[in-house]
Amino acid sequence: MSAADLVVRGGTVVNAGWQGAADVFVSAGRVTALAEPGAPAPDGSRPEEVDATGLLVLPGGVDPHCHVGFTSGEFTSLDDYRGCTTAAVFGGTTTIVDFAIPRPGQDPLEAVLERRGAAAQGLCDSALHGCVVTWDDTTEEQLRAMAGLGVSTVKMFTTYRGETMADEYTVLRTMKAVSATGGMVVIHCEADHIIEEAQERSGARGRTGAEHMGDTRPGLAETASVAEVLAIAESVDAPVYFVHQSSPEAVELVAAARRRGRRAYSEAVAHHLVLDESAYAGEHPERFVCCPPLRPRATVEGLGRHLFTGEISTVGSDHCCYDTAQKERYRHDVRAMPNGLPGVETRLAVLYSEYVAARGLPATRFVELVAAAPARLNGLYPRKGVLAPGADADIVLWDPAARWTVRTGDLHMATDYTPYEGRELTGRARTVVVGGRVVVRDGELADPRPLGRNLPSGPVGTLH
Ligand code: URP
Ligand code: ZN
Ligand code: ZN
Ligand code: ZN
Repeated sequence: MSAADLVVRGGTVVNAGWQGAADVFVSAGRVTALAEPGAPAPDGSRPEEVDATGLLVLPGGVDPHCHVGFTSGEFTSLDDYRGCTTAAVFGGTTTIVDFAIPRPGQDPLEAVLERRGAAAQGLCDSALHGCVVTWDDTTEEQLRAMAGLGVSTVKMFTTYRGETMADEYTVLRTMKAVSATGGMVVIHCEADHIIEEAQERSGARGRTGAEHMGDTRPGLAETASVAEVLAIAESVDAPVYFVHQSSPEAVELVAAARRRGRRAYSEAVAHHLVLDESAYAGEHPERFVCCPPLRPRATVEGLGRHLFTGEISTVGSDHCCYDTAQKERYRHDVRAMPNGLPGVETRLAVLYSEYVAARGLPATRFVELVAAAPARLNGLYPRKGVLAPGADADIVLWDPAARWTVRTGDLHMATDYTPYEGRELTGRARTVVVGGRVVVRDGELADPRPLGRNLPSGPVGTLH
C-alpha cells in the first residue's frame, strides 16, 4: 500500500454488496485500501484523519439524471455547474450526469462539445448524456465521435413534440448505432399522442391549470410508450434504460423484458417514490409540475415496492432548478409551464429516510440504487460507485441517526423552494470527501475549489 494522505477511521463502510467496519485509506485522490479498524498508516505516513465513529461510510452518490442550466422553451433552469455540484456535494452526491440537449437545429455532437467544458466549474466530477432528436445521414458518425469523447449514453424523448421528441424511426436508428459503440439509449417514455388528446380533453373543460397536472399526462401514455420502445430495442438487440418511471406497471414491463434476456433497466426518481398527486391540490400546485406527473398514493407505494424486489435499477433526481416565479408564470396552463423539480441535494436524504430508516430497505441496496448501479450503467464503474482500491476517493460520511427538517434556506440549490419543505427526515450527509479532499466538513463548505472533471464514460455495464 502506498503512503496515505487521508484516512477515514472508525465507521461502517457500506458498498452495494457488503458492509462492515473498516478504515478507508486514500492517496492522491484514490482509495488505496479498506483496512482493519485501527490499522497503522503505511510506510510511516501521517495521513489526515477523519473520524467516522457512529457513521456510515458510503461511496459518493452518482446522480444519473441531473439537468444543469436546462433550457426548455422560453425557460432555463437557474443553476450552473458550480451551483448544481455544490448542492450535490452537500447532499452526498459526488458525480452528476447532465444532458447535452441540442438547441433547435443544433447537431448532437456540437451540443456535447459546447457543454463538456463546464465540468471544470464543478466542485465534483460530472459526465454527460448526449441527445438525438432527429436522424440524418451524419448522425451515426456523430454518435461514433461522441463515444470517442466518452459520451456513451444518449437521451431520447417520445414526448415534447416540436422540441425534443424523436419519432420511432429515429429511436430505432439511434439505438442501433449507439449500441454498436458499446453505449445505450436512455429514454423518457410518454406517448405524446395520448398526452395531446388528454390535454385537449382537459382544455375543453377549462382544466389546464397546474392543479390538473395528473389528468393531462395519464399513466397509460407512459406504459404504451415503454411497450413500444422495448419492442424497438428488441428488434435491433439494443440495451435500453428508461428514465423516471413513475408506476409499478411501467417498471414491470421492463422487468418482464429483462426476464426474457433483454438488457433493459428502470430508473425511478426520488419525487415519484415519496410525493403523490395530493400536492396538486395544495397551495402551490405549480411547484410540483413534472413529467411524468406525481401519481396517486397507491401508485407511489407500488413503485416503492420495486426498490425491494430489485426491479428498479437506479434512483436519480431528475433535478431541474426552476424557481417559483418561473413555475408560476404559466400556472394556469401546464402545456406552457417549465417541467421539473429541484432535487439533486435531497435525493439521498429523502430516499434514505423514507425507505431505509422508515421501511427497512438494506443500506447496501440503498448504495446500489444511488451510487453503484448508476455508475455501472453509465460506464463509470469501478472508478465511481464503490469504495475499493483504485476507485476515486469520493466518500460520504453519513449520519444514519440525524433527525432534521427540510428548509429551503438550509439547502444550496439555486431556487427559492423545495418540494419537501417542512418534511422531517432521518439520515443526512455530514462530511463529504471529493477526490481525496474534504469538501464538506460537518455540514460546512471546507474546500470551495472548482476541481471538477468531465468524466469519459466507458462501455455501459450490465446488471442482472
Ligand atoms: O419534468 C421533467 N422531468 N423535466 C425535465 C425534463 C425531463 O423530461 O426529464
Ligand atoms: Zn424526462
Ligand atoms: Zn404558487
Ligand atoms: Zn429529466
